[in-house]
Amino acid sequence: MANVAIIGAQWGDEGKGKIVDLFTHDADIIVRFQGGNNAGHTLVVDGKKTVLHLVPSGALHPGKLCVIGNGVVVDPEVLLKEIAGLKQNGWLLDDASLRISEEAHLIMPYHKAIDQARERLRGEGMIGTTGRGIGPAYEDKVARIGIRFIDLLEEETFQEKLRRNIEEKNIYLKAILKEKALDFDKIHDRYSGYREKLKTYVTDTGLLLDREMRAGKRVLFEGAQGTLLDVDHGTYPFVTSSNTVAGGVSSGTGVGPRHIHQVIGISKAYTTRVGSGPFPTELHGSEGEILKREGIEFGATTGRPRRCGWFDAVAVRHAVRISGITGLALTKLDVLTGFKKIPICVAYRYDGKLHEEFPASIRAMQSAQPILEEMDGWDTPLTAVRRFSDLPANAQKYVRRIEKILETEVILVSVGPDREQTVMLKNPFEARQ
Ligand code: GDP
Ligand code: IMO
Ligand code: MG
Repeated sequence: MANVAIIGAQWGDEGKGKIVDLFTHDADIIVRFQGGNNAGHTLVVDGKKTVLHLVPSGALHPGKLCVIGNGVVVDPEVLLKEIAGLKQNGWLLDDASLRISEEAHLIMPYHKAIDQARERLRGEGMIGTTGRGIGPAYEDKVARIGIRFIDLLEEETFQEKLRRNIEEKNIYLKAILKEKALDFDKIHDRYSGYREKLKTYVTDTGLLLDREMRAGKRVLFEGAQGTLLDVDHGTYPFVTSSNTVAGGVSSGTGVGPRHIHQVIGISKAYTTRVGSGPFPTELHGSEGEILKREGIEFGATTGRPRRCGWFDAVAVRHAVRISGITGLALTKLDVLTGFKKIPICVAYRYDGKLHEEFPASIRAMQSAQPILEEMDGWDTPLTAVRRFSDLPANAQKYVRRIEKILETEVILVSVGPDREQTVMLKNPFEARQ
């Protein structure tokens, strides 16, 4: 029996939600460990679509425990709406099936106001954030002025912290960002209401996970965003504000690294990116349009069109190394049906040289030209395929080539958005390292 981490191996939106939902069958507990409602994880079960932003993607299986770990930043308003929506559809009916870490930080109205105002002021140089206040909330956490759930539960602490923060943020909002000041009483009353509704879920989740694991329960850790959006290892500064890599699982849950037995990287069979920042294999012509149309590449959180390009093995190899990825789930292979040739980027050229490793320099990334290797395509639709041997020969070759370049086993191929539209090669819960 193993505990498994699911990590985005590209720039997010790889299909983590679908894979977490699928693997929840074999898990007892599903845990988010970083990010916030910048995430949009899509689950399709029997043709019905659910998008989750904060509640772990195990919510559509009765009897499982969903945990929001200490590394997550939580917008209580969004969380309450999500819980209500799930309940309306017959999920999460038992309040005991959701737990929130008392150490998780709250996203406050000033975080959203600062995030959005800064983006406006950046103009052309914008990061293209989701505007959900994620960056400013993590800034406050690191600056040691953040408000955690445990602080919200203690009225005096909450008042004191909120008063001090509002005073400081209002100066910044007015003088620097030219925004309106925020009102203490309004925010205090709103958040006191959230406290009443959410307190039943708040607990010491690190301790809870330890007890459950000792009792033999299997844990599935659900990453948000992707490795190339990691604040340390991604295309900085065009990244999110948390550690999205497998190393973030421990700090974001309070579970030691020795309890993570398998790390499954999720990657599309091509590449997408939302927001600004370098993207060497990006396609600006009709092929990019076909990927966008066939893959329905529009953000699950903001609805923005996703930029599309060929599979970038340099980027995914970087993810494999940094997260210690033990197996890869390759999603959206069905979207590539119909292309005569399918290129794979195997190296970058910049500064007049070939490079097989991902550069830290943003200037190098921005000027990197992809070195492409062409594979033959296939014409038959894949969505009904359930066994690897039933995939067209060229689709099999494409998957095997990616495996070889990355020196990493593909354990699953996804051929459609539905839970069922999956070719399973190896169950990570059955392999213990
Ligand atoms: P996440 O953020 O990593 O969970 O991914 P998103 O949900 O933001 O984006 C992935 C999109 O691709 C969603 O609309 C999924 O329903 C869809 N999807 C996932 N796997 C497949 C697949 O194998 N084929 C197709 N066509 N769509 C898929
Ligand atoms: P999931 O979990 C794709 C991107 C934003 C922006 C950058 C910083 O669904 O894969 P932020 O609001 O986090 O400060 O924005 O990161 N971004 C994502 N892109 N999928 C996501 O999440 C993302 N979360 C953030 O578009 O470029
Ligand atoms: Mg998404």
